[in-house]
Amino acid sequence: MDYLQIEPNQKPKGKVRISGAKNAALPLLACTILSKNKISIKNLPDVTDINTMLKLLGILGATYSKKPHHIDIDSSTINSTKATYDIVKTMRASILTLGPLLSRFNHCEVSLPGGCAIGSRPVDIHLSALEQMGADIDIKDGYIYATTKDGLKGATIIFDKITVTGSENIIMAACLAYGKSTLINVAKEPEVVQLCEVLQTAGVDIEGIGTDRLTIIGTQQKLLNMKAFEVIPDRIEAGTYLCVGAITNTKMTVTNINASHLEAVLRKFGEMGFGIEIEENSITIYPTKEVLPVHITTTEYPGFPTDMQAQFMAVATQADGTSVIDERLFENRYMHVAELNRMGANIKVVGTVATIENAPHKLTGTKVMATDLRASSCLILCALVASSPTTIDRIYHLDRGYEKLEEKFKKINITIKRKKIDTK
Ligand code: EPZ
Repeated sequence: MDYLQIEPNQKPKGKVRISGAKNAALPLLACTILSKNKISIKNLPDVTDINTMLKLLGILGATYSKKPHHIDIDSSTINSTKATYDIVKTMRASILTLGPLLSRFNHCEVSLPGGCAIGSRPVDIHLSALEQMGADIDIKDGYIYATTKDGLKGATIIFDKITVTGSENIIMAACLAYGKSTLINVAKEPEVVQLCEVLQTAGVDIEGIGTDRLTIIGTQQKLLNMKAFEVIPDRIEAGTYLCVGAITNTKMTVTNINASHLEAVLRKFGEMGFGIEIEENSITIYPTKEVLPVHITTTEYPGFPTDMQAQFMAVATQADGTSVIDERLFENRYMHVAELNRMGANIKVVGTVATIENAPHKLTGTKVMATDLRASSCLILCALVASSPTTIDRIYHLDRGYEKLEEKFKKINITIKRKKIDTK
């Protein structure tokens, strides 16, 4: 297992180019299952989750040729409908094959994704929506056995909770269904919007894109004619690198980003005193005389994203005063708090609310452990402003969602060393 070694007191200098969004690319790869032709996909991020999804599609029978950030994939050759546990356990987003496989083949077996560090993350809403579309769902030996006699039927679905991958699964299922589906209380994340746009360009009659209410006229199991597309930039990677500027209180720029995807995050930087400059294809953060404390409540898009909560908690350790964060989406997304307190922060959690008390904290480097993807980036942020070196274990979490992390940091004058644990 690798670990990262980060020297203290490092400040960024320059610009970081943002990669394609992992959470857009995952549903977009799954939706190739609905296509009758080969598709070219550009700006694919080179992260382990994407490679895992490609491995899964390959096991199902898809064929693809890969170049850096670019893939030509033909999923019309898929001849298996079983997403096995050994793959699904490494990436929960494998559940995104459920809707497309079922609507195309009338049956599929997808391993139930386990929980994960940030919460139990059930898929009950995915399953009940498919049942409303006429599917028979049976859970046995840790697998979802989904069948439908003669194709899924269009239905009116009201999502009890706003679920990103739940919305994406049902949107894809509705595309090949018989009849019209009306989806209400649908997630509006930019990643969901791009999925709808790609499906619309492939010939699906979808209305209401970008709103919480979609109508989709199914093609009655006629496969789609998907067109080439480019994955949208990763708003969470961009927000994370802007936090590098914030926590070190130093100017820095992220390029290849759509600032409209980050409005709630940019607003919070402003509330903390930082300057934000938005240009055509870039965002620059500027230092502030005094880093102000912040109040954050995570919520669905376009509100403040839960995937930026840990990173802002890191920045809040350097604010002049007490900040308050309320994590409303996941029941256990504070695993990074114990690690931050080991570095000298003073964070208390009561229920869903974390209070970063008596900041600013002089953080000291030490051995810490990454617990989930975004928590690991928060630890890197704290290591940059610590007074001594930090080592971060279990960095496989990081590689799932941050492309070429050491390289990108090197480009902004920050050294992060990846080392191997001496197993001798
Ligand atoms: C997506 O996860 C993202 N992953 C997550 O990003 C992100 O944190 C999350 O949306 C929220 O924005 C991908 O897009 C691949 P949800 P998802 O279904 O779809 C509950 C990252 O760091 N729920 O929107 O799994 C659920 O427990 C990852 O890149 C049910 O109760 O999240 C949670 O409390 C982490 N039943 C809430 O809804 C269901 O059937 C939102 O979850 C589905 C969800």
